[in-house]
Amino acid sequence: MAPTAAHSCRLVLSLLISAAVLRPGLGLYTVNSVYGETIVMPCRLEVPQTLMFGKWKYEKPDGSPVFIAFRSSTRKHVQYDEVPEYKDRLSLSENYTLSISHARISDEKRFVCMLVTEDNVFEAPTVVKVFKQPSKPEIVNKAQFLETEQLKKLGDCVSKDSYPDVNITWYRNGKILDPSEDMVTALRRQVDPATQLSTVTSSLTYKTTKNDIKIPFTCSVTYYGPSGQKTIHSDQAFFDIYYPTEKVTIQVLPPKNAIKEGDNITLKCLGNGNPPPEEFLFYLPGQSEGIRSSNTYILTDVRRNATGDYKCSLTDEKSMIAATTITVHYLDLSLNPSGEVTKQIGDALPVTCTISSSRNATVVWLKDNTKLRSRPSFSSLQYQDAGNYVCETNLQEVEGLKKRESLTLIVEGKPQIKMTKKTDPNGLSKTITCHVEGFPKPAVQWTITGSGSVINQTEESPYVNGRYYSKIIISPEENVTLTCTAENQLERTVNSLNVSAISIPEQDEADDISDENKEKVNDQAKLIVGIVVGLLLAALVAGIVYWLYMKKSKTASKHVNKDLGNMEENKKLEENNHKTEA
Ligand SMILES: *[C@@H]1O[C@H](CO)[C@@H](O)[C@H](O)[C@H]1NC(C)=O
Ligand SMILES: *[C@@H]1O[C@H](CO)[C@@H](O)[C@H](O)[C@H]1NC(C)=O
Ligand SMILES: *[C@@H]1O[C@H](CO)[C@@H](O)[C@H](O)[C@H]1NC(C)=O
Ligand SMILES: *[C@@H]1O[C@H](CO)[C@@H](O)[C@H](O)[C@H]1NC(C)=O
Ligand SMILES: *[C@@H]1O[C@H](CO)[C@@H](O)[C@H](O)[C@H]1NC(C)=O
Ligand SMILES: *[C@@H]1O[C@H](CO)[C@@H](O)[C@H](O)[C@H]1NC(C)=O
Ligand SMILES: *[C@@H]1O[C@H](CO)[C@@H](O)[C@H](O)[C@H]1NC(C)=O
Ligand SMILES: *[C@@H]1O[C@H](CO)[C@@H](O)[C@H](O)[C@H]1NC(C)=O
Repeated sequence: MAPTAAHSCRLVLSLLISAAVLRPGLGLYTVNSVYGETIVMPCRLEVPQTLMFGKWKYEKPDGSPVFIAFRSSTRKHVQYDEVPEYKDRLSLSENYTLSISHARISDEKRFVCMLVTEDNVFEAPTVVKVFKQPSKPEIVNKAQFLETEQLKKLGDCVSKDSYPDVNITWYRNGKILDPSEDMVTALRRQVDPATQLSTVTSSLTYKTTKNDIKIPFTCSVTYYGPSGQKTIHSDQAFFDIYYPTEKVTIQVLPPKNAIKEGDNITLKCLGNGNPPPEEFLFYLPGQSEGIRSSNTYILTDVRRNATGDYKCSLTDEKSMIAATTITVHYLDLSLNPSGEVTKQIGDALPVTCTISSSRNATVVWLKDNTKLRSRPSFSSLQYQDAGNYVCETNLQEVEGLKKRESLTLIVEGKPQIKMTKKTDPNGLSKTITCHVEGFPKPAVQWTITGSGSVINQTEESPYVNGRYYSKIIISPEENVTLTCTAENQLERTVNSLNVSAISIPEQDEADDISDENKEKVNDQAKLIVGIVVGLLLAALVAGIVYWLYMKKSKTASKHVNKDLGNMEENKKLEENNHKTEA
């Protein structure tokens, strides 16, 4: 069934006629395709038995046809017309489906499939639509900051390479921003002449408020795809919102209730605007002129006269002001007398510790690091009064506000001596004790007149409260006189004691007088002992009289003499002691 020349002629004619009379709307079949991909257009005609060949053409805007592909039914021969736009992009399959690779916007045309028999031409048009999804929109040219009450360009939302036209929408915090006097958009489209793709830019001019702090702004692009309308959202954009200061505050360091003399005070002024003000005027107490400074002002080494009202204001808007009251706490302490003080025993010494303070302060007295119950005052100084006294005070409310002064009291006294003696129970030695009192510590020296061996040299007690004793143990072969010499910087005091020979037994006397209380007790004890001894003596005399009367023996009278001798010695000792005390 090869076509003859006449046949061919007729066919070409009928093709031309059909092209001329072609009417749109023969069933508008549309192929939606994606930019860059392959457009597949089935022929949509039943292939007739007597088909000679199939052809594809498209229509130019003025309606004139452009043939692009040909397939012979009999010779299985395919041929593509020399159309530059479709060079190497076409493929016509055996069933007359036409594929166009690398879809372009310019492929949006009406294509017509034509099946030609010997006596007829069948046509089926197909409309091609090409879609290009836009790029994800981006917010660019972002404002560095926005200012309240000012219309300002916020940024551009750009979506590239779209087809067909897209719309851009702006959102604040996820909600559509509707145009108003505070929000204006301007849209700009740019078509790339080569690709015919559009880049769409929407500029947003916006009047911000403080409510926009940390609020995300986004934009979206709405486009038509092969399967309908779609939307792509941009990333969020945040803006620094500038707003004026509405309140000024003043801060004080260290904490206000703990400011004391000598501190450095830092005044810090803050404005709640954004960006915060960097300069302020600081007003010192009683001054109306402000001092221009950064947001801090430092007062060094403040005194109590720095107490008062401090203020700070904005430099340009002086009514925007904050004030605070500062109290500089102080604590003065004066101890009188203080330092090292030397007094004589028995002297009177009034001591005063005076405090002046911004708050009620408590006073604590310490003596040698031990707390005293009451403040010291001396009408008659004793050795035990000597020591290191501290008057200490602190303000509980103000940390670190403490004062202390000390007094080192030295109580001096001339040496005083008191001597005692005691016979050992075995009767072989006698212990003589020299009790010494005085400050500075007196040195003790012993001298013995007469013969007698010194069994043990001196034994000394610790020196406490200006007192100590020195002991000497002797075994005298005859009556001796022991002399105790006590000497310090103030005086040399000498005292002596007659001690009878060891062969002459002596009655022991009260010993180890170490303090005044004991002395008093001793005085009472002596009285009692005296009475008891008196009674005993009376009884003894009665007994002796009775004994003499009964036995008329002389041995007993010896004992009586011994006892009487002892009493004599003690009496002398007492007298001696009184002399040294005077
Ligand atoms: C035509 O042929 C192509 C492959 O050659 C195939 O993909 C397509 O489905 C066929 N179309 C029809 C309508 O038969
Ligand atoms: C763009 O907006 C116009 C008017 O609101 C609307 O007619 C059109 O369909 C929109 N286009 C897209 C892609 O949404
Ligand atoms: C106060 O500041 C001065 C320096 O300005 C410093 O030498 C001094 O130690 C500070 N005083 C206190 C109590 O911090
Ligand atoms: C506060 O007193 C000190 C002396 O103690 C003086 O040097 C200083 O000038 C006084 N300051 C004011 C503000 O009066
Ligand atoms: C100080 O103490 C007295 C009584 O103890 C009290 O009446 C007075 O209010 C106190 N003053 C201060 C400043 O605390
Ligand atoms: C003296 O006697 C004491 C004990 O009473 C003893 O400790 C000391 O060693 C003796 N001193 C001498 C020199 O004998
Ligand atoms: C001690 O005895 C001597 C005589 O031996 C005497 O002169 C002196 O007065 C006596 N001293 C005392 C304190 O009794
Ligand atoms: C020793 O003293 C005693 C009294 O204490 C006295 O009776 C005696 O005569 C004295 N002896 C001598 C040798 O002086």
